[in-house]
Amino acid sequence: MSKICWLHLSDMHISSKNSFDQNLINDALLEDLKSQILKHDISLSFIFFTGDVAYTASKEDYSLTKDFFAKLCKQLDFNMNNLFIVPGNHDVNRYKVSKLLDDSRRELNTREEIKKIIENQELFDSYLSRFDNYSEFIGSLYGRPFKMNSKNYYFSETRTVNEVDFGIIGLNSAWSSYGGRHDCNNIYISETQLTDAIEKVKTANVKIVLIHHPLSWLYEEDKSDVENLLFKHCQVILYGHLHRADFQIVNSIKGEQIIIPAGAIYTGRRVSNSYNITTIDFENKKISILPRRYYDGARKFLTDIETLGNDDISSFEVKISEEMMSNIK
Ligand SMILES: [Fe+2]
Repeated sequence: MSKICWLHLSDMHISSKNSFDQNLINDALLEDLKSQILKHDISLSFIFFTGDVAYTASKEDYSLTKDFFAKLCKQLDFNMNNLFIVPGNHDVNRYKVSKLLDDSRRELNTREEIKKIIENQELFDSYLSRFDNYSEFIGSLYGRPFKMNSKNYYFSETRTVNEVDFGIIGLNSAWSSYGGRHDCNNIYISETQLTDAIEKVKTANVKIVLIHHPLSWLYEEDKSDVENLLFKHCQVILYGHLHRADFQIVNSIKGEQIIIPAGAIYTGRRVSNSYNITTIDFENKKISILPRRYYDGARKFLTDIETLGNDDISSFEVKISEEMMSNIK
């Protein structure tokens, strides 16, 4: 085993309405990526995008999004098959809400009720039909037809890098989302989704989970189910949505986990826009996270000293414990 590097982006919120500011920041992002990759001799194995690619989930927004990803992969000479994207609350078409969905969502109070919706194919498909524009975007990006439905609303894929099998689990935490603050504590992943997703990559050495929402936004009973499964089976959790990049190594009685939020690439010109690159060095048992933040005065992404809390360093480094190494192997 040697090293593995990935780029984590999230919350781009592309909209045809703010293209000037968006283009300015996207161009700065691409320039910074190219220079950081060169400077730190980074070889990216994966690009992870944890949701909210578009702002209104319209076809116009997704057309701009597709252009962005094509440009990103071209400029980094990156194989699009190693780009993984999960949907966020902004990828839900919020105009496609019916009384049927409203009524059924109000009944989501227990694990059994969540399962009942997921197992009701017709009802669950109508929840997922709100991702139709997102599905079309995913299909055209990868050049193969895709329509999200009750059989494929999450993904689990395996990739082998330097003889290590990585299980990439892309969860859909936005299927019941309405957007806005009232989603907080009312987001459902479901143990059904996560159990199925883990099963498909069960032999992988390292399991990396992509979710748009942080676990703190999940409905209490669902949060407990999901957390237990994640601690038992998965080593790395990447999420977006909060527009903040606070890294955590969580060591609890249930296990150990590396939790890496991305922050948002674009939430406006003068607010915090950020991304990060993570390297796991298996040989030296070390994880290093390079956090970058956009500074509007400089029109550039620079070291994110607000997240690091220190201007003497450019990355956050932490040792991987023996316990986690033994799980990884
Ligand atoms: Fe979000």
